[in-house]
Amino acid sequence: MRILILNGPNLNLLGTREPSIYGSDNLETLMHHLTEKFSNVIFSHLQSNHEGVLIDAIQDSEKYDAIVFNAGGYTHTSVAIADALAAVKPRVIEVHLSNVMAREKERHTSLLAQHCLGTISGFGFDSYVLAVEQLTR
Ligand code: DQA
Repeated sequence: MRILILNGPNLNLLGTREPSIYGSDNLETLMHHLTEKFSNVIFSHLQSNHEGVLIDAIQDSEKYDAIVFNAGGYTHTSVAIADALAAVKPRVIEVHLSNVMAREKERHTSLLAQHCLGTISGFGFDSYVLAVEQLTR
């Protein structure tokens, strides 16, 4: 199984960005952890701060069986990313490190969730682990 881990804006700052919310590990550690834990999965990883780059990656994702997608702030704002998700075949699980429903009101809406198999939010890196576990069941 091939899974794309897709991370949106500001997630490149993991490790130093608001560690009380997002923890103190970085994306490299996340990918190392996933690769170690799921030896039967071929992972690809892309992080971008740019909406268009994320859309290009989604449009080009037919080669993957699934996407685990943390769209960061675009989750709550991007009709264009929602349209891209609606247009492709791979299964998508939306993930968040923090529990977005327990945070500010503007984080309570996801424009992407309706195009995803489900959403996992609030468990730090385990949100990604739980998503991959679900996809590989
Ligand atoms: C986030 C939650 C978003 O609201 C926020 O904009 C992020 C990170 C999370 O993983 O908790 O950038 O997606």
